[in-house]
Amino acid sequence: MTAYSPDNDASSEEDLRSLTDRLRPKQAIIQNDDGEWELLRYRDVSAVALDDKRFSSQVSRFLQIPNGLDGEQHHQFRTLIDRHLSESALTPFLPLFKQVAAELIATLPKHTPIDAVSDIGAVFAVRAQCAWLGWPATLEPQLLQWMRNNHAAARSKDDKQLAQVAQNFDDIIRSVVQPRRSSPHSLADDVTSRLCREHINGRLLTEAELVSILRNWTGGDLSSIALCVGVIVAHLLHHPEQIADLKNANDSELEAVIDEVLRLDNPFSANRRITTCPVTIAGQALPEGARVRLNWISANRDEQVFNNNEFAPHEHRPDNVVYGLGKHVCPGRLLATWQLRIAIKALLQSVNTITLAPQQMLERERPPLGGYHKVPIVLT
Ligand code: HEM
Repeated sequence: MTAYSPDNDASSEEDLRSLTDRLRPKQAIIQNDDGEWELLRYRDVSAVALDDKRFSSQVSRFLQIPNGLDGEQHHQFRTLIDRHLSESALTPFLPLFKQVAAELIATLPKHTPIDAVSDIGAVFAVRAQCAWLGWPATLEPQLLQWMRNNHAAARSKDDKQLAQVAQNFDDIIRSVVQPRRSSPHSLADDVTSRLCREHINGRLLTEAELVSILRNWTGGDLSSIALCVGVIVAHLLHHPEQIADLKNANDSELEAVIDEVLRLDNPFSANRRITTCPVTIAGQALPEGARVRLNWISANRDEQVFNNNEFAPHEHRPDNVVYGLGKHVCPGRLLATWQLRIAIKALLQSVNTITLAPQQMLERERPPLGGYHKVPIVLT
């Protein structure tokens, strides 16, 4: 077990990991510039995630299925969604994910600088998701461009830019949904076609519902997977001594290590809730209608729970909340875990060394994103 501490990389602005590490020992809750209350400690973040009665997920004026729903409505959509993300539904796609990873890794140049986030993580995420959903490979350049625009918009925090990026993504999704909805009796058996044939309360899903579901399966998750690959490769750069062991690790060991690496440096920063009645949380009295943020980055690094943040994959796994907890716990956990394990395994098996590219530095993402913007490496 090695002690792990945030590293000082090239970013001048303090990243969310260092910022919350500094604040958390003194403060359990802070109010951000938007007037939202942000929870920093594991105990409070978990308590709110598990209390979906007093902390509603209906935080947006836009349709968000299932993450913006509560109660019975949430349960109905979650049951439908979980069917597509279960172990038995995903197992047939494992060979496809392995093929995508092997083909990508085989084309990576050796002895030449590449970026683990954009050249490996983003490309793998887009190809694996297209393969899973049955989307054409011709969408790849559009989706990669969208990811770049989405990151830029998130960093800018500019409402107009964010709305434009959201609109562009919905247009991409409509381009795959509309042809399938217009021929409902087609025998096409890809995941998107199957979703288009799903019913809720005895009726077919509407186009708006389908777009919302697919937006949640892809929009944020393409970026999360890409950023996760960056974080894991950065970990290997900092801990080259682990590479030999991980090359020979079995699937479950490798998955435990990946979960622990992501716990320590979670790129998926926070989710929101709104109080349905007056509550007291983290010692703070809040009125009904108060906006609360669950800071997963901070909760996952709470030294009270994670033994001073030693690197301990097996010991910390039961408390790891990278994928959240409670009724809104990530339904894509298995898919993400398998995709990440397959991508990292393919990388490990094809290289002897992974080193930092000469004269380059790791670049942290800027809030509200976590993880790395750039992980420049050389493979041999
Ligand atoms: C490494 C990648 C991922 C991370 C770190 C992640 C993390 C999370 C977290 C923390 C939540 C809880 C949100 C809350 O409590 O409000 C969540 C929810 C969700 N995730 Fe993921 N996720 C990942 C990948 C995926 C994938 C691949 C999919 C689908 C294909 C997915 C679909 C969803 C959906 C639909 C929800 C909302 C669930 C609900 O409200 O019931 N995620 N995710």
